[in-house]
Amino acid sequence: MLHAKKFLTLILTAIVLVTGCSRCLAQSLRDYGDKIGILIGAAVNPSKLTEDAYASTLAREFNMVEPENAMKWAAIRPDQKTFNFKPGDQLVTFAQAHRMKVRGHCLVWQKYNPAWLMNGRFTSEQLSDLLREHISTVMKHYAGQVFAWDVVNEAFDASGGFEHSIWYDSPGIGMAGKGTAYLEQAFRWARMADPKALLFYNDYDAEGLNAKSNAIYAMVKDFKRRGVPIDGVGLQAHIFNLSTKEISSLSDNITRLTALGVEVHITEMDAGLPLDRKGNLINGSDLTKQAEIYRFVAKACLQQRGCTAFQTWGFTDKYSWIPGYTKGTKGMALLFDETYAPKPVYNALREVLQQRAQGLGRGAGP
Ligand code: XIL
Repeated sequence: MLHAKKFLTLILTAIVLVTGCSRCLAQSLRDYGDKIGILIGAAVNPSKLTEDAYASTLAREFNMVEPENAMKWAAIRPDQKTFNFKPGDQLVTFAQAHRMKVRGHCLVWQKYNPAWLMNGRFTSEQLSDLLREHISTVMKHYAGQVFAWDVVNEAFDASGGFEHSIWYDSPGIGMAGKGTAYLEQAFRWARMADPKALLFYNDYDAEGLNAKSNAIYAMVKDFKRRGVPIDGVGLQAHIFNLSTKEISSLSDNITRLTALGVEVHITEMDAGLPLDRKGNLINGSDLTKQAEIYRFVAKACLQQRGCTAFQTWGFTDKYSWIPGYTKGTKGMALLFDETYAPKPVYNALREVLQQRAQGLGRGAGP
């Protein structure tokens, strides 16, 4: 067996030497991810899976997928009595066919909720029943198929206080003004619904050390101490500033979180570049800066054993949410351009993975 492997390596090396074709042997992101045991993910729109280039790029490069919108309340719960699992199920089927893990997103959020819920004038008691039922039905449906869930998304504000939410205080599930109590309740319901799923808290602008990430850290510490079920923290990493200044303490944040015994996932990375009115890049050099930002985040994650997934929010610029979100002022935020050609940022990420696979840049980690 060993001899056969050595022989194969020799032949392949000879091919590279003779043809000068190092790309012939290029490994994809997921090849490296599989090798070093890290999940490389992308947010996906299941309705695009019928597009050949979309599906083949996804299957070739990633070993994890997450529905960009398909499992959010507004999508999965069109009215109070109906659950629409179809798009989510399509994603699960695709993932299983290509040996990919599915990350679920999200069960409790103040945004992307259906009108019937937001305008329903429900009492706190009714909201509490609705949320418990929702968490239970959705997680049970996907038990054994979705390995980790963002149970609560974006609950903290920038100063470490609480965002207003139908689940917290408008009117809330009966725990308004009681800090993290409503999150605790959601995590407890989630553990009961699917005891095997990993349960995550997920947020943005909490990559480095700041008021928001301090509040998240304090919550996780408190939950761990009191035995409230939580397994991980998702750091979204939507980067809008092309310098690493705001996220310079990302490593320290990952270190302190993983030291509490939870995993960290980078969950929604993208880095939008300034565009002119025609949608063209304003500064060509931004592509290099973008590559360096991705490299910085990927390195910070891969250097620590407790950071177990690196995911981008989409993968092709063709379908990124950034141009819509920024009214066309930013875009080109992802790894592949609109024709699915890899960008400098793709090469930077692959290089970090390759170095990690070769044993370089591997930190002790918790
Ligand atoms: C975004 C989607 O990408 C958009 O298509 C949708 O219109 C709004 O939501 N943080 C999150 C994600 O946790 O769910 C958001 O996704 C982006 C910000």
